Amino acid sequence: MTPTNPQDFHRPAYHFLPAANWMNDPNGVIQWNGRYHLFFQYNPDGAYHANMHWGHAVSDDLVHWQELPIAIAPTPNSPDRGGIFSGCVVNDDGRPVAVYTGVNDDYSVQTQCIARGNEDLTRWEKFAGNPVLSDVPAHLGQTRDFRDPFVWREGDLWFMTISAHIAGVGGAVLLYRSPDLVDWEYLHPLYVGERARQGRNFECANFFRLEDKWVLIISVQGDQTPTNTLYWVGRLKNHRFVSERECVYDAGYSYASLMHFDESGRPLIYSWIREGRSADQQLAAGWSGVQAIPRVLSLDERNRLCSEPAPELKTLRGAHHSFNGADLGEGPLPIRGLALDIEAEFDVGGDRICGIELAASADGSEKVAIQYDSLAQTLNVHRQYRHENPELDSAPQGIPHALDLGETLQLRILLDGSVIEVIANGRGRVTSRFYASEATSQGLRVINPAAVASLDVWQLSNNS
Ligand code: FRU
Repeated sequence: MTPTNPQDFHRPAYHFLPAANWMNDPNGVIQWNGRYHLFFQYNPDGAYHANMHWGHAVSDDLVHWQELPIAIAPTPNSPDRGGIFSGCVVNDDGRPVAVYTGVNDDYSVQTQCIARGNEDLTRWEKFAGNPVLSDVPAHLGQTRDFRDPFVWREGDLWFMTISAHIAGVGGAVLLYRSPDLVDWEYLHPLYVGERARQGRNFECANFFRLEDKWVLIISVQGDQTPTNTLYWVGRLKNHRFVSERECVYDAGYSYASLMHFDESGRPLIYSWIREGRSADQQLAAGWSGVQAIPRVLSLDERNRLCSEPAPELKTLRGAHHSFNGADLGEGPLPIRGLALDIEAEFDVGGDRICGIELAASADGSEKVAIQYDSLAQTLNVHRQYRHENPELDSAPQGIPHALDLGETLQLRILLDGSVIEVIANGRGRVTSRFYASEATSQGLRVINPAAVASLDVWQLSNNS
């Protein structure tokens, strides 16, 4: 393990990440006796993906997280000997049950397992009869991708989705049913994707009722790397999903989202924010992967899926800078630091490009531009590094984002070290990474100040 460096200004200050090593998907998110529990894919050996365990963190407010000892580790000579892959935690009549995918050493066998937790979710006893589900339905063809159980209860029954693909066809979300979390009956595919359009394999499906609709969110695993996240909003009829809308959930580094309803019934979603730098750089940093700020989900009047950072984040807001169009010039604003929460409203009108530039170097050769293009109706993130560097991803990012009639552009931007979360009008999401070369990266510049209706920037304090 490489110790993490306290001078490492790429490391976020108010997003959760473990003290060191590799983290990917959020797992088992649940509020239990008032406390929020976040489990996560974790490699205790270093900042690379291998030897998956469930790490564990708790929070009373979704903002301040405390990392706890590892919750679930692989057991030799068992169905999870090669790793504890992603899954969820459910409340089985007052007892916490983790449902996860156990894998063998080369991940060629993926089966679903359960473990029962103690009252504070720190100790987990694996079920002696694991795995509880191992048969891959024959109609999937030749595949080893069969994982990421997402479980919910309806009346006396449990339902579960498994993420997979149908060979040669595309990603698939499979629906199962059980009376007891142990005996699972396969019902049918809930959704089958088209490989050419939607990628090779689906991971980490979430399926849940939101207001009077059902929402399906998946992560697309491309041939090489994770690529994208998608969602559908629709209806459920006889346990068959009828999609009414398909959209990109996030056009950037957000992946493997996991939602739950908290004890007040709030739908919250967590996501892994991937790195945008080389494996060597991740190893050298000693850490890899960040959790997005948990967000509250809702549907707008046109049934688009909206997400807003949990309002609890506002408790970290410190120094506040407020501007309207008249105060703003073309120059950089005197706002420093790499831990900012920004709310900006633009009256886009006929103006073509507006937005915000962040993390600019003093000489201006390096910056991130978050731009809205009103003609193309796209939200884009352009990353400009001082020097071309093959170790850093600077590919343009963008998502279609049409404004409704009379609607202003509302941007919420969270900057934290190398993390940038951008949300436009609650529904257009681009998560980005930028590894500034100077700790002193300054400022914030408005693109097209005349279009600004309001701009509020808060410096955020550390969450530890
Ligand atoms: C998604 C994923 C899951 C799997 C886990 C393994 O990022 O590949 O499908 O369960 O990560 O770490």
